Amino acid sequence: MSLGSARGSEAVAGDAAGRATYEAAPNIALVKYWGVRDERLGLPYNSSVSVTLDGLRTVTTVAFDASLDRDELLLNGRKAPEKARRSVSALLDRVRARSGLTAHARVRTRNNFPTASGLASSASGFAALAGAATAAAGLELSPRALSKLARFGSGSASRSVFGGFVEWRAGRRPDGRDCYARPLFGPQHWPELRDVVVLIEGAPEKAVRSAVAMQATVRTSPRFAARQRALPGRLAALKRAIAGRDAEALFPLVMEECDDFRDVCETTRPPLDYLTPASRAVLEEVRRVNLEAGRAVAGYTHDAGAHVHVFVLERDAARLRRRLAQVPGVARTLLLRAGPGGRLVRRSA
Ligand code: DP6
Repeated sequence: MSLGSARGSEAVAGDAAGRATYEAAPNIALVKYWGVRDERLGLPYNSSVSVTLDGLRTVTTVAFDASLDRDELLLNGRKAPEKARRSVSALLDRVRARSGLTAHARVRTRNNFPTASGLASSASGFAALAGAATAAAGLELSPRALSKLARFGSGSASRSVFGGFVEWRAGRRPDGRDCYARPLFGPQHWPELRDVVVLIEGAPEKAVRSAVAMQATVRTSPRFAARQRALPGRLAALKRAIAGRDAEALFPLVMEECDDFRDVCETTRPPLDYLTPASRAVLEEVRRVNLEAGRAVAGYTHDAGAHVHVFVLERDAARLRRRLAQVPGVARTLLLRAGPGGRLVRRSA
């Protein structure tokens, strides 16, 4: 983390507004963030845990420029849709308010993976935007403060500031001071762990932002309260399994959490169904693999999208990957590890 300041404080560097480039990776949640207890402060109901992924990156450059009359956004070299531009502008407004800057900005962002493919481009995108915009505005934010800012773009972005295994603590305080992401273990903690990302053919684009969909779950799912009661125990067990690099304990917990997340989505009114028949067939295939082996060889999870992430140890990864690639409706698979957190690439005044 090149943006880290040991004091954890932030300093305003006058008018030294310039330009900065920051890169960040997506993450996949093992315990899901799904439900906001305070919409104004962006505070979640429950803590979540994720793995930051290696190999996938968003690189974002922010340049403040007093001659612009509004913020501009280029996404993979093209003018971005107005909706995306507005959500970027909203995060930039927070950076302007903190730094005292009034200039608009030119934002260029590039993903080395398909945008809106369900590979969590909002997590890497808003982490990269928060990192680039604060640096360009001359603010020195600690990684923790950066995670607090990034969550206003997208909750899951708070976790992409850090590498490896990351916890976003929900906190208890009404003012949100104890709500932030922190690293649990670095990317090298569990070198044998792999994530087989199973990309589903024709995965539909998200119709409704997760931030909106999850509030429908809070309001209407009769299972949401039971989920909240189950989460502290599940979270503790999952952190113990990660600490002990215990795959046979971790994989069933990851699947239990994914099934619980899917259950509150499906019992939301109207129901939220993110999977396609091919995604469901992948989940079924993982259950079959485990049943045949008589042990937890692998553990599946998915976010609010059709693609499936399957955790497995290196020794079983190639075989599992071949098997999952044969499930009808699977477009391709990626083999990923835990990766590093966000990084300031360059800054100039
Ligand atoms: C299911 O905070 O990423 O991935 O910006 O609308 O995508 P959007 O919301 P976001 O919601 C994350 C929901 C989740 C679970 C998780 O990543 O914890």
